[in-house]
Amino acid sequence: MMPETKPASSSVRSLPAAAASRSMVDSFGRRIEYLRISVTDKCNLRCVYCMPVEGLPWLKRDEILDYEEIARVVRVMAKMGLRRLRITGGEPLVRRDLSSLIRMLSAIDGIENIALSTNAVLLEDQAEDLKAAGIDRVNISLDSLRADRADTIARRPGTLDKVLRGLDAAEAVGFHPIKLNVVLMRDSNDDEIADFAAITRERPWHIRFIEIMPTGSNTDLSADSFISCNEALARVRQLGDLKPVEGPLGNGPATYYRFDDAPGTIGVITPMSHNFCDRCNRMRLTADGQLRPCLFGSIQTDLRSALRRGDDIRPLVEETLRIKPERHWLVQGSTEGSGGLIALSQTGG
Ligand code: 5AD
Ligand code: SF4
Repeated sequence: MMPETKPASSSVRSLPAAAASRSMVDSFGRRIEYLRISVTDKCNLRCVYCMPVEGLPWLKRDEILDYEEIARVVRVMAKMGLRRLRITGGEPLVRRDLSSLIRMLSAIDGIENIALSTNAVLLEDQAEDLKAAGIDRVNISLDSLRADRADTIARRPGTLDKVLRGLDAAEAVGFHPIKLNVVLMRDSNDDEIADFAAITRERPWHIRFIEIMPTGSNTDLSADSFISCNEALARVRQLGDLKPVEGPLGNGPATYYRFDDAPGTIGVITPMSHNFCDRCNRMRLTADGQLRPCLFGSIQTDLRSALRRGDDIRPLVEETLRIKPERHWLVQGSTEGSGGLIALSQTGG
């Protein structure tokens, strides 16, 4: 049985008015300084754990926030204490002229750092423009170092080659840090855990193993192929001693480790076997302008309608912060707790 959700009002922290206006603190005392912005629900890959092969019922063009609307949300939230952004999708690089959005966002007072989550297929061509526009750092999804397997997981040919070229470009233009996300799946890529970990002895990259999360489009896969990060770490430890470390900038839900003298780190993101919710520092803006206080669950606030009416959205942001749940309620092997999500790409992951 699931524990009851703690009522939001039970531990509301009262802040002096001046402090409250400069920081977003939720009703569990968590400071929210980070917004993930999904700029599109579309993607040029079809990763097996994410989307059905035929894709999803995509949002219509007029349902998606334009760049000025996104910038308006960020301007309001920056005045409330927002400091860091992450651009996500779907795949953000499929949205036209993404650099112009990045230029608008990096000009906003208070925004100190902008990160990008991408599958890197289109990064080789865009890395330089994005860096010049204000992207500081990147997370790249890569689930296999073997060409045939990477294609099978992404369900698109030529994936690995393009991603590796994107990764080279990311290094060449100086994104820092570079993190690689690996979604673990038993009997698919779990025999590569050691290979991924070994990269950190050669390169200053941060490899993050992620436990597969159940959504409407992957219920069977996420149950059948689940591997805990504890198991992954046990296998990594066979290669050498691992020391817990602070982790790179942007330290979110991951816990990090390092081999002696290795330039890179190994991180684990454990949404299923541990709970990182007590450290949550973020909210999410979906491509269609819904502000979501939690990765999963059905709570969201419609900012788009208010933006398009010309209303002040600050009260809506404050209300969303107030109702941010204490934790997510994901249950392994079930879509219960996912709030009806078909894929993480619908909320920006
Ligand atoms: N479970 C775990 N990770 C997922 N991602 C997308 N869908 C899932 C899922 N169901 C990952 C992507 C990307 C990050 C944003 O989320 O691989 O690295
Ligand atoms: Fe696209 Fe990312 Fe989903 Fe893969 S995980 S299909 S790259 S949105």
